[in-house]
Amino acid sequence: MFNKIDFDHIDTTQAPPEAEPDRQYYFMAKCRKYVKAKSERLGRPLFSAVRTFGCQMNARDSEKLTGILKEVGYEITENEDADFVIYNTCTVRDNANQRVYGRLGHLNSLKKKNKHMKIALCGCMMQEPSAIEKIRRSYRFVDLIFGTHNIYKFAELLATMFESDRMVADIWQETDQIVENLPSQRKYPFKSGINIMFGCNNFCSYCIVPYVRGRERSRKPEEIIHEIKRLVSEGVVEVMLLGQNVNSYGKNLENSITFAQLLYQVEQIEGLKRIRFMTSHPKDLSDELIQVMKESKKICRHLHLPLQSGSTRILKAMNRRYTKEQYLALVEKIRKEIPDLAITTDIIVGFPGEEPCDVDETIDVVRKVQYENAFTFVYSKRTGTPAAAMEQVPEGVVKEGFDRLLKVVQETARDRVSLLSGKTMEALVEEVNEQDASLVTGRLSNNTMVHFKGNASLIGQIVPVYLKECHGFYYLGEKKDEKR
Ligand code: SAH
Ligand code: SF4
Ligand code: F3S
Repeated sequence: MFNKIDFDHIDTTQAPPEAEPDRQYYFMAKCRKYVKAKSERLGRPLFSAVRTFGCQMNARDSEKLTGILKEVGYEITENEDADFVIYNTCTVRDNANQRVYGRLGHLNSLKKKNKHMKIALCGCMMQEPSAIEKIRRSYRFVDLIFGTHNIYKFAELLATMFESDRMVADIWQETDQIVENLPSQRKYPFKSGINIMFGCNNFCSYCIVPYVRGRERSRKPEEIIHEIKRLVSEGVVEVMLLGQNVNSYGKNLENSITFAQLLYQVEQIEGLKRIRFMTSHPKDLSDELIQVMKESKKICRHLHLPLQSGSTRILKAMNRRYTKEQYLALVEKIRKEIPDLAITTDIIVGFPGEEPCDVDETIDVVRKVQYENAFTFVYSKRTGTPAAAMEQVPEGVVKEGFDRLLKVVQETARDRVSLLSGKTMEALVEEVNEQDASLVTGRLSNNTMVHFKGNASLIGQIVPVYLKECHGFYYLGEKKDEKR
């Protein structure tokens, strides 16, 4: 956890310390001087915007970047017409990359109007040599590029950028470092993501994540517990434990510990009300975890259990290491133990070699499991992954399968979500509704969203809500008065 540092007492005329995180505190102190001098010259504060693409992991990384930007003296804004803009990128599917390239053109036009503007790129896409090459060639106005492994050096890189008038690029292939005690600025005061592990060792044959995020590394349980306790003391009531495969948490630690044991420890933290986690690989989901979830009062009634495909043949080619039957048996076991648990999933359509009969198998699983929600993706070829070298499915065939699957996903989800109609359940209020300011939006323990009359004063509170009308994936509801 980050304790306030007195940056004015760090002597930046001396050489920087070698040890982390002190080295980064030194560079934060240095950056503060640069930002202050520039702001005085311009006679106004300097503004900075961080834009996040991709998953929860990236969202949490962006909070860390924002925390550092705030410490060094930037005012934080969402407006990209700012003095420093950083894009934290994703490369899981090609459309994520295309969005970044598209937005960069817009940033360039803003930079032409504000000559003080600096632009940085970081995140998963930067770990791909082809992306770096393209940026060096066609996007020369970018000032700073770094990757996922050296993100903890952001303050140091920022200082280098201030001292240079050329593009600064620093990309590492790997790291075994986990640097604790750096600042972060949370997006929501009442909930927070917590990294419990980094990287992935699974190498699903379609997936780029292991290549851009490196090997699996778990944080020590005491660091995690300490961080959550601190968050709770600051008002956080819900945490989301983050990892590409949380079920293999702890395996590489000196004192090995299972994910279920970690959850048990988190459960004991006083003042914490809700625990979520993401993502669970079906092959590693233990009976111990099911028991801990069943007995817990705080672990939310939601499990995200990516299926990817319902065809055993395709699952094998995907290197997922379970069969259709094993997946269904696992779901049956979980549902028997925890009947009110919502299960959501991820599915890919169009993996190399997939035929309409394989999509039928996937649809069969969707019908049997009755997911509360399923994220369906069109397969995207990622350079360097084993699946990229396999024979690709024609676009028309993919689209036909995708539309067929989506229809069933929507029908079954609606049926399943509507089972709660007429019940009163607790919702954590997250925000004022974007479309209708007389409504607030809350999340049930099972992750379903509900919109109901209310105002901003309810944000961060857990309140009982009557679930009146089911609209597919969400509800319209009414807040019930609390019991006296
Ligand atoms: N670690 C998580 C997933 C992270 S990526 C897990 O194992 O479940 C999130 C989702 O993106 C994956 O579940 C998968 O459905 C999808 N995805 C990953 N690579 C993809 C690709 N090449 N094309 C399409 N979808 C992909
Ligand atoms: Fe990708 Fe598979 Fe790792 Fe998930 S488990 S991040 S899908 S390689
Ligand atoms: Fe994207 Fe990286 Fe997450 S590739 S999905 S941001 S781990």
